[in-house]
Amino acid sequence: MINLTIDGKKYQAEEGQTILEVANRHGIFIPTLCVDEAVSAYGACRLCMVEIERKGRKKLVASCLYEVEEGLAVSTQNERIANIRKTVIELLLARCPQSEGVQAMAKKLGVTCSRFESEKPENLCTLCALCTRVCSEVVGKSAISLVSRGTSREVALPYYEDKTDCIACGSCAYICPTGAIKMEDGNGMRTITWPNCQVSFNLSAVPSAAPNGFPKNRSSIS
Ligand code: FES
Repeated sequence: MINLTIDGKKYQAEEGQTILEVANRHGIFIPTLCVDEAVSAYGACRLCMVEIERKGRKKLVASCLYEVEEGLAVSTQNERIANIRKTVIELLLARCPQSEGVQAMAKKLGVTCSRFESEKPENLCTLCALCTRVCSEVVGKSAISLVSRGTSREVALPYYEDKTDCIACGSCAYICPTGAIKMEDGNGMRTITWPNCQVSFNLSAVPSAAPNGFPKNRSSIS
């Protein structure tokens, strides 16, 4: 077992656990917008930043990625962390001003507006990559991925073509925390709409769940 402190209290954790996992297990709130138990951590949103202290040195780390270490002292709340979370959520609010998921998290963090300008107010995608991770890690398909860099980065089908490995299971729409991916069934067809692409499938050929049963096999939704 590994001994650590979180906000001054002593805890024990198993090797390999992340700070976020330990905090969650003990009911300590750390905000997250890109974590789901169904997929591996990715560190996209940076909301989960905490301060750690080892051997007298302090630094900020993403708690969803950072594994616990013997003697680690973790702070989940202080002025430095609050400022970072405020900036991160303001940037996300500017990126996705209409996203209810982002708005709800902002409210939780006491942020009501963003000091940053919104370039594309209709955008709902935070680039959390939950959709691409569930497609590759759970469904085993990699039908969608994050493409381009910087402000052009987005979720897309390979080469923006509708020739795709997608099996229309809907796992990406199900896991998307912001409603950026939509799935509709009607007239014998299933249509999946990603931020920049749309594909329709004949419903008779569509599985009722991903090959391994996702999302029915989940114990909870974070
Ligand atoms: S939850 Fe850690 S970066 Fe998003």
